Formats: sequence, structure tokens, C-alpha cells
Amino acid sequence: MAGEIRQAQIETLERKNAEALLGGGKERIEAQHKKGKLTARERIHLLLDEGSFEEIGKFVMHRSKDFGLDKQYFLGDGVVTGYGTINGRLVYVFSQDFTVLGGSLSETHAEKIVKIMELAMKNGAPVIGLNDSGGARIQEGVVSLGGYADIFYRNTLASGVIPQISAIMGPCAGGAVYSPAITDFIMMVEDTSYMFVTGPNVVKTVTHEEVTSEELGGASTHSTKSGVTHFSCANEVECINHLKKLLSYIPQNCEELPPSLPYEPQGDETREVLDTIIPENPNQPYDIREVIEGIIDADSFFEVHKNFGENIVVGFARLGGRSIGIVGNQPAVLAGVLDINASTKAARFVRFCDSFNVPLLVLEDVPGFLPGTDQEWRGIITNGAKLLYAFCEATVPRITVITRKAYGGAYDVMNSKHELRLANGRDCRDGRAGGC
Ligand code: HXC
Repeated sequence: MAGEIRQAQIETLERKNAEALLGGGKERIEAQHKKGKLTARERIHLLLDEGSFEEIGKFVMHRSKDFGLDKQYFLGDGVVTGYGTINGRLVYVFSQDFTVLGGSLSETHAEKIVKIMELAMKNGAPVIGLNDSGGARIQEGVVSLGGYADIFYRNTLASGVIPQISAIMGPCAGGAVYSPAITDFIMMVEDTSYMFVTGPNVVKTVTHEEVTSEELGGASTHSTKSGVTHFSCANEVECINHLKKLLSYIPQNCEELPPSLPYEPQGDETREVLDTIIPENPNQPYDIREVIEGIIDADSFFEVHKNFGENIVVGFARLGGRSIGIVGNQPAVLAGVLDINASTKAARFVRFCDSFNVPLLVLEDVPGFLPGTDQEWRGIITNGAKLLYAFCEATVPRITVITRKAYGGAYDVMNSKHELRLANGRDCRDGRAGGC
């Protein structure tokens, strides 16, 4: 008798497992594939080391009974959550399932994500969000909005403590874009992912403006115009590979150092190419990326925000196998002048590196701040100050190399050595000096 009960329980478990794996069902999975998108589980499979995924909350279902939800129950409730490893390192992951009610966020869906975030903070490991969601589940009203608020709060608590990375892998609207915006890095997939607070239909109704999803919030828009996304990837596989590469430069949490790779010196290491890149004429442009490549370990530069604020170049690299962050003025674009986009882009990058123990190399060749009403009226003062503040507060090792010129206030802003001067001979930032 006991054996029969046990057998029945096992069969129920197997049936539920199989049902959970299908998310919103075969038809919706096919529709997802037809759009050139992977499913939530296929993405996790690509992301994590083979066989490392441990799922949490596989059979969770929503609690709502309103607006027909009492007839639409799906095991997992539209999000696959758990933990696993990437190149042997622990990560926590949630992957939203668009085949279940458009990946929309219910109260229980939010609880699953919150649980993952709390475990990640407790165990000091990164959180990766694979986002594919129409935002708050409309049928649940304010209950689902509350779920988002719970997530935003955890995003904020985790900021600077553990790395948080968001991949946008489908149309993301409403609350589904604000959580990624609080995280450290956003990656988008070209042609299949969108981010907007409200979609084209609402825009048309409210402002009579006609705009496509791509123009409003596609990867091209957010990687060039708004700077919302840090990376634009050709497809989902490239996006996941980028995610793994990014993780290779950063530590598990704010108390650890980034991983290092073994380094083989290349010849006598004189790097003579660096003698010929910079023109003597201060008005002649050159590509700062050539200087970066000349300094760092071969092929180690991983550029962040490549197509946004191109007058400054930021990214991770390796020097002698160790991870560093690079900030370089780009004389090939707008003569390397500092403007609002360049300042906010670099400030955010510097703050990330400072939070996660990534030393900074600054390559400075700057004619100053961009003058004019456009910049002044849009707040170059406030935004330029963000970069100044970021360098001043940074306590990671920082080296500035002035490759040619450092004019005006931009000399100060670009990590000048004076920021390191001690107040009354003491450093106020190390927390030990009294009376500062
Ligand atoms: C419930 C949703 C949903 C949502 C999509 N679906 N979004 N269900 N709540 N938020 C459902 C659809 O009804 C549909 O179900 C299925 O998911 C697939 O959606 P489609 O519209 O067929 O897909 P697509 O054409 O690709 O368009 C995707 C979309 C669109 C762009 C995301 O669905 C959309 O605009 N959704 C609403 C987005 C929105 O307004 N979100 C804001 C929520 S408020 P069926 O059964 O018909 O196939 C919010 C505020 C938070 O998030 C504020 C925080 C600060």
C-alpha cells in the first residue's frame, strides 16, 4: 500500500515536472521560436555550466482569481528561477517566460525573483536577470505593482554589493524596464528586444506620435541615443556569451577581487607601437583604442557603451592577467571633449569599478568641456560633476596617463592626482581618520 502511494506521488511529481518544463505550452513555445527567440529554459541552459542549474519554485502558481486568472494557472508562474555556475563560479538567475501571460509579473512571480536576489546577497554572488516581460500583470492591479516595488528595493540594496546584470531578450515594458535600469549592466538583443515605459500604442493615444517599437525602444535606439543599454548584441547567443565574458572581469561581490588569468610576457614588453600612435599636432585626431590595445594584454579589451557618448571610451581589460577598468578620452570623436553623455557614461563606469575592486587606468587627452546653450540647458554642470565626484570618491588604485593634453576644468575632472591629496594629512575616505 505504502509502495503504491509512493509510486503515485512519483508519477504526480513527474507529470508536474513535465508540465512545468512546457511553460505556456507547445504552441506558445513555437510562436516564441518563430520570432527568433529562445525560451526561458533554453536561455538558462546556454548560460550556465552543463548540469549545474538548481531550480527553485518550479511549481509555484499565482494566487489571483480575478479577470479570468482562475482559469489560467501555469506551474512556475512565468519565471524560471534558481542558481548554477558559469565557468565554475556561482550565480543566481531568473529567466522570464514570455509564453506564460507574456512573462508578466504577478505577486508570486515577484516573490520568486525576490527570493533569488536575497539568496544572492546572502551568499555573495551575482544576479543575472534574463528579462522577457510585458511588465506588471494587469489583471492583478496594485498587487503586482507591489511586487515590482519589492524587486526595486532589493535591486537598490544589492547595488554595489553584488554585481547585477540584465539581459533584455524580448519586449519589456513598464516595471520590466525599471528593475534592469537599477542594475549594473544592461544587454539588449537586436531586432527582438525592446525597452519602453509605454509602448507605441499608448504613445500614439497620449501624444499622437507615431513610432515603431524599434525606434521607440529597440537595441539600436538604446545603445546609441539614450544610452540605456550598455551592450547591443546581434542575437541571443551573442548576448549570453557577452554576459559570460563580462562576468570574467568582475568579482563575485564587493569584498572579493576580480579573477586573474595567468600571464605570459610577450617578448621584451617594450610596446614600441605606443611611440607612433599619438600625433604631435594637438589638433590631429587618433583613435584612443589603439593606445589601449598597445598597453593591455592582447585581445583583452571589453568595451562598454561602445556606441554611446563615443567621445569617451570605457571598458574592462587585463594587465598582466589582472582585471582593470579603462577610461579614455577619444580624440577621434568631437576631439575627445567632455559633454553630458560622456560624463554620465564614464561616471557610472568608474563607480562600478570602485564598488567592485577593479583598479582604474585613465588615458587623458581632453580639450575641455563642450561649450554652448544645449549642454548648459541640459545640465552639463550637474552631469559633469558626476564624473568629478566618481573619481574623487574612488578608493581603488587609479593611474592617469596624460597622452597629450589636459585643458581647463577637464584636467581636474579626469582623475587628477590632486583628488588624492589628504585633508590635514589624513585620508577621509578610509573610514579610519577621525575628525574629517
Ligand atoms: C498581462 C500580458 C501583459 C501584462 C502581455 N500580456 N503583457 N498579460 N499583463 N502586462 C499577455 C498578452 O495579453 C498576450 O496574451 C500575451 O501576453 C502575449 O502578448 P502580445 O501582446 O500578444 O505580444 P506582443 O505583440 O509581442 O507584444 C508584447 C508587449 C505587449 C509589447 C509586451 O503585450 C504589451 O504592450 N503589453 C502591455 C505592456 C504594458 O502596458 N505594461 C505595463 C504594465 S504596468 P494572449 O493570451 O492574448 O496571447 C507596469 C507598471 C510598473 O508595469 C511601474 C513600475 C514603476
